[in-house]
Amino acid sequence: MRSILKWMSIPMLVIFISGCWWGVQSEQKVSTDESITETDLWTPPITPTDGLGERIKLGFSQLGSESDWRRANTASITEAAEEAGITLLMENAEQSQEKQFESIRAFIKQKVDVIAIAPVVQSGWEAILKEVKEAGIPVVVLDRSVNVEDTSLYVTFIGPDFYEEGIKAAKYAIDKMRNHPGPIRIAELEGTVGSTPSIDRGRGFRDAIADREGMNIIWSSPADFTVKEGTRVMREFLEEAGSERPQLLFSHNDDMAIGAIEAIEQSGLIAGEDIIIISVDGTRQAFEMMVEGKINAVVECNPLLGPLLMQATKEIMAGRTLPKRMIPPEDIYTQENAATEVKNRKY
Ligand code: AHR
Repeated sequence: MRSILKWMSIPMLVIFISGCWWGVQSEQKVSTDESITETDLWTPPITPTDGLGERIKLGFSQLGSESDWRRANTASITEAAEEAGITLLMENAEQSQEKQFESIRAFIKQKVDVIAIAPVVQSGWEAILKEVKEAGIPVVVLDRSVNVEDTSLYVTFIGPDFYEEGIKAAKYAIDKMRNHPGPIRIAELEGTVGSTPSIDRGRGFRDAIADREGMNIIWSSPADFTVKEGTRVMREFLEEAGSERPQLLFSHNDDMAIGAIEAIEQSGLIAGEDIIIISVDGTRQAFEMMVEGKINAVVECNPLLGPLLMQATKEIMAGRTLPKRMIPPEDIYTQENAATEVKNRKY
């Protein structure tokens, strides 16, 4: 217990006890979901550590390496584990839920202390999480969520509010097109089918444009969160559209937007002018493209979850109760502030 007190400052302890949880980066406020009831809370089956014994062993199933966001997320977790003195066993599932199951079973055999999972899709987790629970290993869900009836199968879910990101993108779209006459033709590049960010960003965007008459999503297809697919699917949209081209593109991530820009330019159109482009993530490359005028707005999605994950892991091992939901702070950036912000990007 002494060791926990050593690494947690007094104000942090107070805030934590009052149900408001702050990240290791002290200026980063992490919001929590207060609708969670007592019954949802995790009761540790483990004996709290005193911090003097062996290093904590964390098994992490990363879903892949499809985007710049994902690479930044992996780097953040690796670095934070090293800094926290936690032994990290990390497996890359290369977009396969089956591979995630295999890694999780391997982590159980290796008797890790905590298992963290960034789930590729949100369904199909109930059975494997029951196996983990039976083995007495606490689970942290990271980045994307899992759709399970029994929420006691995981301790906490640390990750962005993707629905809110979709709403932010739509609000920008509505404002940007406010003086545009007539109906607006929208193209949407979705992420991986069945993944939380794709489902929730799409839902948030649709809900927010519903009240704005004339904003219609005409083209919508998955492009797997990759540059290559972004180019391919956007090319298809443009071919199908002919002279009735999309006036606005909502891309569920920066990589697909960057890919789409290639297709837009190849077709002789000007990205950011002929087609307004809104994307999600906030990578440095997307910021550079905003500065160049090719992307109009980027909704931030924070991949730097490593410090929060390590802190949660230590809290669990200390036998503490965590909030069921932790959301990192996120913003929206536009061409107006991109030039001043680009130098601050950490990924
Ligand atoms: O789950 C987060 C999403 O996954 C990011 O927006 C995307 O870039 C990544 O691949």
